[in-house]
Amino acid sequence: MNEKTARALLSMEPAALFKQADEIRRQRKGDDVQVRALLEFSNYCKRRCAYCGLRCENRSLTRFRLSKEEIIDIGRQAHDAGYRTIVLQSGEDPFYTPEMIGKIVSEIAKTDITITLSCGEWNKDVYRYWHDCGAKRYLLKHETADPALYRSLHPDSTFSERVQCLYDLKETGYETGGGFMIGLPGQTVDTIAKDLALIASIPCDMAGIGPFLPHPQTPLRDAEAGSAEWTLRAVAAARVLLPDANLPATTSLGVLDPTQKDHVFACGANVIMQKVTPVRVRALYEIYPANHQKADIIEGRQAVEAQIRAFGRRPV
Ligand code: 5AD
Repeated sequence: MNEKTARALLSMEPAALFKQADEIRRQRKGDDVQVRALLEFSNYCKRRCAYCGLRCENRSLTRFRLSKEEIIDIGRQAHDAGYRTIVLQSGEDPFYTPEMIGKIVSEIAKTDITITLSCGEWNKDVYRYWHDCGAKRYLLKHETADPALYRSLHPDSTFSERVQCLYDLKETGYETGGGFMIGLPGQTVDTIAKDLALIASIPCDMAGIGPFLPHPQTPLRDAEAGSAEWTLRAVAAARVLLPDANLPATTSLGVLDPTQKDHVFACGANVIMQKVTPVRVRALYEIYPANHQKADIIEGRQAVEAQIRAFGRRPV
């Protein structure tokens, strides 16, 4: 059902689809743009996802891990800079045990800031424990809803395990963030319709939709990047299917085409993430090649607020 609707939305004339999505966004979300802090605390990863620069087989990447104390301190600094949501993200790094992450969450949760975790696949007991510690949201993109494509890109995991994690998160009480990439080699418009139908059926409370960007130290180094237009069309369709969802303008879209990152806010998006990762390690969190901002936590917050005001919306 959702898949058919998604296919119809994706076949609409883009300008008409964008207009419909923008109208729904305005009714349901108003003109506020939610600004979230993103702290990337470890770029170690045990997985070998074919598209990702953090994959363990990328031996040319210098790896870093932040200490528990530094993560907690950055949480406090983000709070003081005005953030009320912080996303703690890492590769799948077994160095951080569930107990360590739980301690970090409980400490940061003492301030008035909502914690979102984005630390990959764990079992339901771990998700529940972190929820009890104070994490209220979790981001885990399904990446692609085509099981065969999923298998070819993820030698260490299966699509059904991924989807199970999303249901576990939902049942545990998290606001659950899913999402997928646009332009993965072998993806078709029908795949994107399946992706949209999946996030609508869970249903996801948030969905990150961004273009695939080839990373030179991965097996997909020679593949073509995803298209900005199809990213906008998918975000707009997501807004129609999930009118109340939080939909970020993904960083990868801004890397592919900086002008489109503003435009996506007129196609349904209402969230932006701003890095609060220490500048000394920021360039090492290289999921895909990008130019990294040198702004510290306070300057970065000011810059993103100015950017949002420049296209006529209100940062919150
Ligand atoms: N291009 C674009 N997005 C990527 N991600 C990982 N690798 C790439 C890439 N090469 C996205 C995935 C992941 C998120 C953290 O970054 O969707 O969930």
